Amino acid sequence: MLEKITQSANYIKEKIKETPEIGIILGTGLGGLVEKIETETKIPYAEIPNFPISTVKGHGGNLIFGKLNGKNIVAMQGRFHYYEGYIAQEITFPVRVLKFLGIKRLFVSNASGGVNPEFEIGDIMIITDHINLIPNPLIGPNNEKLGPRFPDMSEPYDKKMIKIVEEAAKEEGITVRKGVYCAVTGPTFETPAEYRYFRIIGADAVGMSTVPEVIVARHMGLPVFAVSIITDLGVPGKIVEVSHEHVLEAAKKSEGKMTLLIKKLIERLDD
Ligand code: HPA
Repeated sequence: MLEKITQSANYIKEKIKETPEIGIILGTGLGGLVEKIETETKIPYAEIPNFPISTVKGHGGNLIFGKLNGKNIVAMQGRFHYYEGYIAQEITFPVRVLKFLGIKRLFVSNASGGVNPEFEIGDIMIITDHINLIPNPLIGPNNEKLGPRFPDMSEPYDKKMIKIVEEAAKEEGITVRKGVYCAVTGPTFETPAEYRYFRIIGADAVGMSTVPEVIVARHMGLPVFAVSIITDLGVPGKIVEVSHEHVLEAAKKSEGKMTLLIKKLIERLDD
C-alpha cells in the first residue's frame, strides 16, 4: 500500500505549486465550498494512479488545490462510499494520499438522519464522537510507517477545533448541535426500528460515510474536524419517507452556514 500511496502522491506533487495544509472532504451539503476556493489546480480522480474508479458516470470527482482564507488547502470534490461496492481500504485511500501530500488536518462533512429527538431538519451537528458499523478500514496487515496496529480512539475529533467552531457559531448567531455520528453501510435508509436502535446505542445521527475516513486519518495522527447536516429525522412520530433527492435538497439549505463555519475555522487556526 505504501508504494501505491507514494506513487499517487508523487503524480500529484508534480502538478501542484504549493503544499496543502488542510484537507477537506466535501460531502453532501458542502459542495458549495468549492466556489469559495481560489482554485489553482484541479485534478480529476480518474487521472490519478491508484485512485478508486468512480462507479457513477459523470461524477468522477476532483481534487481541488487552492487557497481558502489565505491557507493552502486541498478539497475532495466527491467521495467514495462503502455502499458503492468498494472495500473500506479503497474508500479511505485518498485520505492516505492527502497525508502524503502534507496536510496537517482533515475536515470532513456529510448529511445524516437525526435520531436525537431534540434535532430538527437543517440542524448543523458538530461530530464529537462516532460509532462505526462499517467494516474497519484498518483490517489487514498494518504498516507501522503509516500508523500503529492498535490506534487510540480516545479523542477521535479534535477538541480544540470543536471549540473554535462553537465559538465562531455563537458569534455568527448560528445554532449548532453536537453529537455522536453512527456510520452504517447503507444504501437503504433505516427502518423505524433501526432508527430506534441507533438512538438506544448512543447515536444522535446516522449516515453512510465519514467514519472510515476519520479512522484512517487518526491512524496517521491527523487531527480531524467533522460536521453533519441533519437532513431527515429518524425520531418516532416524525419519520416520513426519505429519498436521496430530499437529502440533497435539505442539505443545500444549510450549506451556506456550514461553509461559513469552515471558513471561520480556517481563519482562526493559528498554525
Ligand atoms: N440515514 C442514513 N444516511 C443518511 C440519512 C439517514 O436517515 N440521511 C442522510 N444520510
